[in-house]
Amino acid sequence: MHIDILTVIPELLESPFQHSIMKRAQEKGLLTVQVHQLRQWAVNEYGMVDDYQYGGGAGMVMMCEPLTKAIEELSLQRKYDEIIFLTPDGENFNQKMANSLSLKENLLLICGHYKGIDERIRQHFVTKEISIGDYVLSGGELPAAILVDAIGRLLPGVLNDETSALTDSFQDDLLAPPVYTRPVDFRGWKVPDILMSGDHKKIEEWRHEQSLQRTKERRPGLSSQHD
Ligand code: ADE
Repeated sequence: MHIDILTVIPELLESPFQHSIMKRAQEKGLLTVQVHQLRQWAVNEYGMVDDYQYGGGAGMVMMCEPLTKAIEELSLQRKYDEIIFLTPDGENFNQKMANSLSLKENLLLICGHYKGIDERIRQHFVTKEISIGDYVLSGGELPAAILVDAIGRLLPGVLNDETSALTDSFQDDLLAPPVYTRPVDFRGWKVPDILMSGDHKKIEEWRHEQSLQRTKERRPGLSSQHD
């Protein structure tokens, strides 16, 4: 999979893909992420990419021209399956969306700033608008990093243990069960006996039961599907 990211602050995206699972995904050639400074396509030599909004009001708006030039130039190199704008008024990101995006070949992510981007870019180029939650961040860079991480780890071959993505929270609309590691007794806080029983079938049943209970308690909206 290839992901291009358009941003005015590429520095914010320098580190997130250089460690751990995202690093491994890239080293294995399963994922390439390219971050592009939008100011390359600025309208003047001062790097201008935003302007006052028509109708008045506080806050700048990212202009049509730099975004259009960037999208058109990048589109000459690859055909995007989705051009995604990260915005608080987009569709809420969830595991189902991550699963479905992980099946794509090429994605272009647009990080907004200031008051947002000119509506005409959304109308004419953007194919999907995604929010990572009902709160407003100062830009789309952190949401873009979250998207890449959630999608990248699902690519076949990225995780060592192929089953581990399948047992994540949310994969079955269920939260993950509790997990424990050594020691078996820490300050008198004991690991549940069942996990030491060696009975794999019983352990699976226990884990499933814990998942159901946890989901019911913490995310009743999700758990109604399991009643
Ligand atoms: N940009 C600013 N806030 C955002 C959010 N919650 N989700 C996606 N992009 C954003």
